[in-house]
Amino acid sequence: MTRIGTPPEVERGQAITIRVDGLPLPAHLGETLAGAMLASGRRAWRHTRHGHARGLFCGIGLCFDCLVTVNGTPNVRACLTPVAAGMIVETERKP
Ligand code: FES
Repeated sequence: MTRIGTPPEVERGQAITIRVDGLPLPAHLGETLAGAMLASGRRAWRHTRHGHARGLFCGIGLCFDCLVTVNGTPNVRACLTPVAAGMIVETERKP
């Protein structure tokens, strides 16, 4: 998956960098954490107890499939969390 080019009528937020599993990940202010991870090619960042991959599913905060740890706080829904400069994210499923 690649990031879609920006149409001229759309203004994106300021470019920032967050860290996911210790690696830098480019993002833009106004994006959700899940959106930034999907745009970078991450489709799954958790797994079930049976080993099935999980990432973004509902995208609206209902299913809890997108949980990550943000700045030391566990069980944060990536689909509802806006990115912020310097954000440190840990997932269960390392790239
Ligand atoms: S994708 Fe369903 S709660 Fe985040």
